[in-house]
Amino acid sequence: MNGKFVTIEGCDGVGKSTQVRLLRERFEREGIRAVFTREPGGTVIAEKIRKIILEKETEEMDAMTELLLYEASRRQHTARVIEPALESGKLVICDRYVDSTLAYQGYGRGLDIETIKRLNAVARGHINIDLTLFLDVTSSEGFRRKGGRASGDRLESESGAFYERVYAGFSAIADDEKRVVRVDASGTKFETHEKLYACLDSRGYLNKR
Ligand code: TYD
Repeated sequence: MNGKFVTIEGCDGVGKSTQVRLLRERFEREGIRAVFTREPGGTVIAEKIRKIILEKETEEMDAMTELLLYEASRRQHTARVIEPALESGKLVICDRYVDSTLAYQGYGRGLDIETIKRLNAVARGHINIDLTLFLDVTSSEGFRRKGGRASGDRLESESGAFYERVYAGFSAIADDEKRVVRVDASGTKFETHEKLYACLDSRGYLNKR
């Protein structure tokens, strides 16, 4: 694999989507080539699975069903989008990946961590994550930024205690894995953007056309 695979992780409400958009816009202005993609989703089939996961249904979703859907979506996305892009030497920036599953389904929902690690490895296949940018804002701060909104999609309706556990999960992963860089995302969106850009630039990932 000649390309570089970068994942961006963090709790709901940390401004991750805004940061991904700011990077994308800056790359366009500066002529930096990259493939931007997201999970759950990233291909037609994976986006359909995303809908099933995030829609509020009248029927309650079993936690293991949810996990398997995330992993099914991930396998499709990895095989169809990420692997081919890395093989052709591209920089791939993915909004959420395996760490979200450990943090949300493992630490958040309480599913067995070893089972999740095994399923993550199956879905990931033989690709490596070169760098993970963890947008670090405590879950309560993220929750406050969203105006304490408890509506939105099915996952966004979870309680504050759920998000505390998710944050603890991301934090533990950041401590364990060398590939993870904690980026303090408590400042303005432009300050955070500069930090993210610098992380990528200093590693030589930003090849201009
Ligand atoms: P999304 O709207 O993409 O959230 P955000 O903009 O905050 O990234 O919805 C994704 C939701 O799915 C989010 O609440 C996190 C959750 N999620 C998991 O629980 N497990 C996973 O493996 C992934 C990829 C996401």
